[in-house]
Amino acid sequence: MEFNDISDREYAVIRELLYSHTGISLGPGKKTLVISRLFKRLQAYELSSFGEYFAALKTERFPGELELAIDLLTTNETYFFREPHHFDLLKKLAEGSPKTSSFRVWSAACSSGEEAYSIAITLQEIRRMSFKLDWDVRASDISRQMLEQANSGLYDIERSETIQEDLLKRYFLKGTGRYEGLMLVARTLRDNIQFARINLIQPLPELVPFDVIFLRNVFNLFRYRH
Ligand SMILES: C[S@@+](CC[C@H](N)C(=O)[O-])C[C@H]1O[C@@H](n2cnc3c(N)ncnc32)[C@H](O)[C@@H]1O
Repeated sequence: MEFNDISDREYAVIRELLYSHTGISLGPGKKTLVISRLFKRLQAYELSSFGEYFAALKTERFPGELELAIDLLTTNETYFFREPHHFDLLKKLAEGSPKTSSFRVWSAACSSGEEAYSIAITLQEIRRMSFKLDWDVRASDISRQMLEQANSGLYDIERSETIQEDLLKRYFLKGTGRYEGLMLVARTLRDNIQFARINLIQPLPELVPFDVIFLRNVFNLFRYRH
């Protein structure tokens, strides 16, 4: 077996592992993707085949490695105000809600946090326009690495392309010096979003009731099971 190849039997092992831990189903044609994303991990442990690496994941021989492999295999693509009509609808729902308690939203597969911050900006804008709206945004993901990035609120400035100019000015700080090329989400937003690790295919922890749940671009990862 070549170092850069995966046999059908080995592929079945990693598919099953990923499926049982996350619900994500790797299609049969994704061997190349698995190779390119996990190749460096074999090197890190000086293993000579994917078979050996997958067996190590299964037996949890390397602590924390399964979680890392899952992170590497998961698609985390996201951006600020992705699918803008969802945020228009959120605005409508929040404006129409009774103002007796906080308007609560859950970003249930938040990746690196752009979705949660877009939600918070939308709600904070309503509040700014003098509607008496209190809001509470919770956000979760399976990936600790993504949650770390989300919590930091620090993004590459190139990710600002999908944010309206006025919102960018109001809710982001432009990095200077060693933060050149980066932008930081304003503290008003960062302090009001709670991030937590939640695996959507495991029993959910006790959660507050929500007015809106964003569950986007995650269930598509769960199909193609053969
Ligand atoms: C493509 S991103 C979607 C991000 C955002 N919702 C959006 O639409 O832009 C999918 C996210 O789902 C997360 N994910 C995959 N399986 C999960 C599971 N079982 N539980 C929680 N999150 C999961 C991944 O870590 C990834 O960050």
